[in-house]
Amino acid sequence: MLREGPMIDAHRVTLSAQDDFDGWRDAARDLAEAGVPASAVVWQVEGGEADLFGSESVQPAAPSFPVPRAFVDLAKSVVCHSDPERFGLLYALLLELKANRHALDDEADPLVRRLNDLGKAVRRDVHKMHAFVRFREIDGRFVAFFEPEHHIVRRAAIFFVNRFTNMRWSILTPELSIHWDGQALTEGPGATRADAPSGDPLEETWRTYYASIFNPARLKVGAMLKEMPKKYWRNMPETSLVEPLIAGARNRELEMIQRSADATIVKEGLKHAVDAERVLEPGGNLRASWEALLKDARNCTRCDLYKHATQTVFGEGPLDASIMFVGEQPGDQEDVAGRPFVGPAGQLFDAALEKAGIDRTTVYVTNAVKHFKFVPRGKKRIHSKPGAGEIEACRWWIEHERELLRPPVTVALGATAANSLFGKVMAIGRNRGVQLELPDGSECWITVHPSFLLRIPEEDRKLEEKKLFLRDLKRIKARAEELAG
Ligand code: URA
Repeated sequence: MLREGPMIDAHRVTLSAQDDFDGWRDAARDLAEAGVPASAVVWQVEGGEADLFGSESVQPAAPSFPVPRAFVDLAKSVVCHSDPERFGLLYALLLELKANRHALDDEADPLVRRLNDLGKAVRRDVHKMHAFVRFREIDGRFVAFFEPEHHIVRRAAIFFVNRFTNMRWSILTPELSIHWDGQALTEGPGATRADAPSGDPLEETWRTYYASIFNPARLKVGAMLKEMPKKYWRNMPETSLVEPLIAGARNRELEMIQRSADATIVKEGLKHAVDAERVLEPGGNLRASWEALLKDARNCTRCDLYKHATQTVFGEGPLDASIMFVGEQPGDQEDVAGRPFVGPAGQLFDAALEKAGIDRTTVYVTNAVKHFKFVPRGKKRIHSKPGAGEIEACRWWIEHERELLRPPVTVALGATAANSLFGKVMAIGRNRGVQLELPDGSECWITVHPSFLLRIPEEDRKLEEKKLFLRDLKRIKARAEELAG
């Protein structure tokens, strides 16, 4: 039986779109089964030369070799790259994996390196789209124009659907436009900047927001231009503030240092020096933004968990912490206290931090899910794992916390935190103890959750696992210190 799918003519494959992952996967699997070498395949996207059409289809075969999940994830990113060679490169790696299922682990292999770089560029582009799209309101619909570097619009769309579910919006890009009416996502043709409205009262809101989060002590102009390349500035009202803010930064920084000196006297008993940034806490802009976020989180109804929990348990710690620890969700005691990691798992966590030489008052501790989920049993409330929908709903808060704090190192404590941070399932065993990169390009480490250690019944195994946890924490501490210079 012939399957509908990409057209394969001799060894030419015509995919239906620039980001047609399913089409690439089906064709690549069939070609690999048939033993077709990478050099004998021409990959094209529909809309190319006319002689590509009306070709014979290759009879597909059931795949007989397993493909690692990591390759599928990589391929999903890489197909969105604008490099015309991407399909062929991926196919070449697929053939290598057919011969050696560990081929992807060889990071010295130039092909693996190149594909990893392409995947990384796509993830960065997606992150930029998430961060730099700015809507302008016309007649109750919010419209934005954005020019991504790669074919990422479909991939990035779900973020906007989740974030702006109750709004009607359109994002116009040169390749295609996407539209959300509160119920369904539809696509339309590409557009130009002139098709999008320019300037409205919302811009003032963005400018105010940006001015409030601008922190002169953190200003690194080079890094800022890298993060927020000038080509995006035309769509972003707040960029009109950038130059004046940079110009005034030195004076504001000096003022902050002065306040820092005052605060050092006030904050007796603080173990370590208060630097210019940390002083923002008593009333600086970063703290004000974080407090506004906290206030909103306290009224969160993004999923049903708020209905039975006592209160929102938000993150706590210095806003310029070099490490952010992310747990799963508050437990029974945290729910009552309104603070993360204060119950039995928290005590184990505190003891491990101390042994690793990490002062808890210097790190930011939060959870992927901010409300306690439980099932009542008699007078007890028994912890219940948050579901994918609850984790997804709560990503709103953790993403905003991370956006404000920008911690150099984020640590996922357990699978729920890792899944929330990466937006996909992350195996603890395989990813533990290695330096990973989050979709926003920042560094993340994964380790076990302290309550996993509490639940191990055998004393000798518990001891062994505690040692491994401690080893992870020590590595993380060393890495944070290395990054701080
Ligand atoms: N477990 C968590 O993941 N977080 C807490 O705050 C407490 C227990």
